[in-house]
Amino acid sequence: MSHNSAPTPLTSSMGSPLTGTIRVPGDKSISHRSLMFGALAVGRTTVKGLLESEDVLATGEAMRAVGAKIEKHADGSYTVDGIGLGGLLEPEHVIDFGNAGTGVRLTMGIFGSHNIAATFVGDASLSSRPMGRVLNPLREMGTNVIARDGDRLPASIRGAEQALPISYRVPMPSAQVKSAVLLAGLNAPGETTVIEPIPTRDHTEKMLKGFGAEISVSLNEAGERVIKLKGQPELKPQDIDVPGDPSSAGFPLVAALIVPGSDITIENVLLNEHRTGLITTLIEMGGDIEIANRRETGGEEVGDLKVKASRLKGITVPAERAPSMIDEYPVLAVAAAFAEGDTFMPGLDELRVKESDRLAAVARGLEANGIPCVETEDTLTVTGGATEIGGGTVTTHLDHRIAMSFLVLGMAAHKPVTVDDGAVIATSFPTFTSLFEGLGAKFSSSASEAA
Ligand code: S3P
Repeated sequence: MSHNSAPTPLTSSMGSPLTGTIRVPGDKSISHRSLMFGALAVGRTTVKGLLESEDVLATGEAMRAVGAKIEKHADGSYTVDGIGLGGLLEPEHVIDFGNAGTGVRLTMGIFGSHNIAATFVGDASLSSRPMGRVLNPLREMGTNVIARDGDRLPASIRGAEQALPISYRVPMPSAQVKSAVLLAGLNAPGETTVIEPIPTRDHTEKMLKGFGAEISVSLNEAGERVIKLKGQPELKPQDIDVPGDPSSAGFPLVAALIVPGSDITIENVLLNEHRTGLITTLIEMGGDIEIANRRETGGEEVGDLKVKASRLKGITVPAERAPSMIDEYPVLAVAAAFAEGDTFMPGLDELRVKESDRLAAVARGLEANGIPCVETEDTLTVTGGATEIGGGTVTTHLDHRIAMSFLVLGMAAHKPVTVDDGAVIATSFPTFTSLFEGLGAKFSSSASEAA
């Protein structure tokens, strides 16, 4: 995988206005889950529009390791021949998840209630991320775990012979933790309950229902989401059409707003209410964004985003919006650099434990490019309108979204912006540069610039 090879610096500089109509690759969250749930169903699931990124392909390998048959066909679609819940085979080798947090955490949930042993490894970024948030509820359900200090990878588990269904209150806003508990609950007899005080993306709930699981969502007296799942269902294979990833769409969306004269359309973007915080925020900042052709595919709302270059103004982004745009703060910070006044972003503590410490990585990247910002433990304030933006080299820390966000910065900056490793983009958006070049963006790779 590219993140284990030598870094390849990439520079972005102002080209022509961005124009044209594009589609971004399939949603990463739905792609991971399509392969996982397909593997747990009995029969053949088909997946159109699967995101073919390193993260998702790693999940595919993990599902193959427990017996699922996954094939790509001439028309670009995938089929997954599932082994059925309870039927997972013990992997014969270590499972390497590379950079994929969603992949490893959800897979730990699935394996954790199957009586198999498995060892998980990842790259330097994934090996530094906390796994206790998933391993602790799994321990309660009967999974045996041996992990490095602080519950980091490499980690080995021996799944429970007979998992205990639990009631679990998710201590931080995390769809991965919620999903891991629900997925472990799939192979536990009885009812697993997850209480979610702060709502997060609901793809697991929606898709499991589509696969035939008995799952209900209600609100308790405190207004918290209560998800109840009946264990040991027979999951039925599905035909899935993966919509465009709104997190990936965030990059051309912000780029078109800040590169003068731009006018683009991004088609077929997922508009799930738990994923649209960036669009809401950019509209509040004065962004000219029209959502056209709203429609429903496979139980999810999608639409086309028509975006024109705009004069943005700084705002305060409500902290409670964070879960619906958690992966989009780096690129929002770039938009804020071109807005008039300050943009204040509170409630960012979860950014500290992403593929990098994203709060610090963004702040250092902005500073390196002449953009004033103030970072506290869980907030970021960016002051827009600096007179000389760009000219810096940004350390990506194996974080694809840091790399892409700062390449977007370079498209509108006075001077070129270099990221120390462009290869990390393959984690989630392998077609990033070609897609942007088609819109008019300018990239150059030069080893000397990284030295
Ligand atoms: C994801 C959940 C989020 C998000 C990640 C994808 C998912 O992580 O940042 O990119 O598909 O469930 P957390 O659960 O850590 O917030």
